[in-house]
Amino acid sequence: MTFHVHTYGCQMNVRDSEAVEALLAAAGHVRVDDEADAELVIVNSCTVRDMAERKAVGKCGNLIAAKEGRGRARRSANAAVKIVGLMGCAVKRMGLEVFKSLPNLDFAVGPRRFGAIPHLVARCLAGEKGILELPDDDEVPTGMDAHGSGNSFQSYVTVLLGCDNRCSYCIVPDVRGHEYSRPAREVVAEVRALAARGVKEVCLLGQSVLRYGVRNPAWLPDDPPSPGGYTEAFPRLLEALSAIEGLERIRFTSAHPKGCTDELVRAYAEFPKVCRHLHLPVQSGSDRMLKEMGRRYTRAEYLAAVAKLRAFDPEFAVTTDVIVGYPGETESDFEATRSLMEEAGFDNAFVFKYSPRPGTRSAALPDDVPTAEKERRDQVLLSDQQVRGQARNDRLVGTVREVLAEGPSLRNAARWSGRDGGNRIVVFEPKGPLVVGTPVKVRIAEAHPQILIGEVVV
Ligand code: 5AD
Ligand code: SF4
Repeated sequence: MTFHVHTYGCQMNVRDSEAVEALLAAAGHVRVDDEADAELVIVNSCTVRDMAERKAVGKCGNLIAAKEGRGRARRSANAAVKIVGLMGCAVKRMGLEVFKSLPNLDFAVGPRRFGAIPHLVARCLAGEKGILELPDDDEVPTGMDAHGSGNSFQSYVTVLLGCDNRCSYCIVPDVRGHEYSRPAREVVAEVRALAARGVKEVCLLGQSVLRYGVRNPAWLPDDPPSPGGYTEAFPRLLEALSAIEGLERIRFTSAHPKGCTDELVRAYAEFPKVCRHLHLPVQSGSDRMLKEMGRRYTRAEYLAAVAKLRAFDPEFAVTTDVIVGYPGETESDFEATRSLMEEAGFDNAFVFKYSPRPGTRSAALPDDVPTAEKERRDQVLLSDQQVRGQARNDRLVGTVREVLAEGPSLRNAARWSGRDGGNRIVVFEPKGPLVVGTPVKVRIAEAHPQILIGEVVV
């Protein structure tokens, strides 16, 4: 069949979708860019906020209507669709309820079970429908190392599954299960194979990636010892990956301040391939809120982690996530978040309006910050961040950034864009023909809150 995977949610989902594409291709199906040409359409869902789940379920509903040729959907963009599947986090949250919302869904499969998809498609082709596959919390997925044969220079690699943090508001542990660290030797082999295929940049994924090797050992007794004497599993993984020839950059996400150990900082300092950027979600700047959320750090501890990273490199990029309107968040809690963001000097920030998720601890609390007030707090933080982003980027004018060329800019094809080590978007005019994934040195001439513009120096 021709197929298309439509992805919502975080990088984990993007990675799972890629693996599914590779598994389906290996089973003889043909990936198409244009959903309109696809006979099989799979929606990979997110459930972190109510709106995210609604979007994925709504999309699936439209596809089913198109499949059945109902109403307006008959003339819809999905004329070719014959099988519709839903995968990912929302499936695990909804369970059987998924078929109440989507009665004619062909199959639904939770995270950690996506390896079953080619088999489920075969069953649907044989006439079954309404299949539900829910993974156990400790399930180790099959097909996790499947990568397509595409010629992208960047790749995600999952290293840690699930999450054991249990923050009060977060549904992720319920849907993505318990933490499981993949053996380091598997990760190293996967990245080595990617590098041999021309991948220049990998991004290691885990909900709380610095907990790699904490719940279960990632390094086994017969693995070669760490040449640099690293004792912590994640920095040791960075050391091993740094030695892979052809690989230029190593990124990872997401992090928790407890993972910002001296060994991690030493790895950043010692291995030039490890990009000096960390996505370190703070969620709130109020100690009272942090405690309620079960974040296990104080404002001061969070700021100390940021200071530690910036101490060895003042240009070290720190980005974050913030939630506004958590139950009981007062004006003074909110002001504490505002001031923390200023003190931390974030290079970028994603702000989310609190959304109660069924089954989480905070869902039992009244969602008492009015929507309009959540909206106001969101806007205030975003406009603060615009000013801060401008100031942080202004400091980079005149510096030369090492950029990996990503491709022509969407707005102006004569210009290309790429990212520097700090994950900042850099726009430049190539001096001649340029291949995607080539490192380019760019001197910054102009700064904006979200992008840098410069000239190629070599
Ligand atoms: N409501 C709003 N935002 C949430 N996040 C996680 N759970 C919720 C929720 N219930 C945000 C956090 C997290 C990001 C991925 O989504 O900021 O870091
Ligand atoms: Fe959404 Fe969280 Fe699942 Fe990612 S892990 S897709 S953010 S619910």
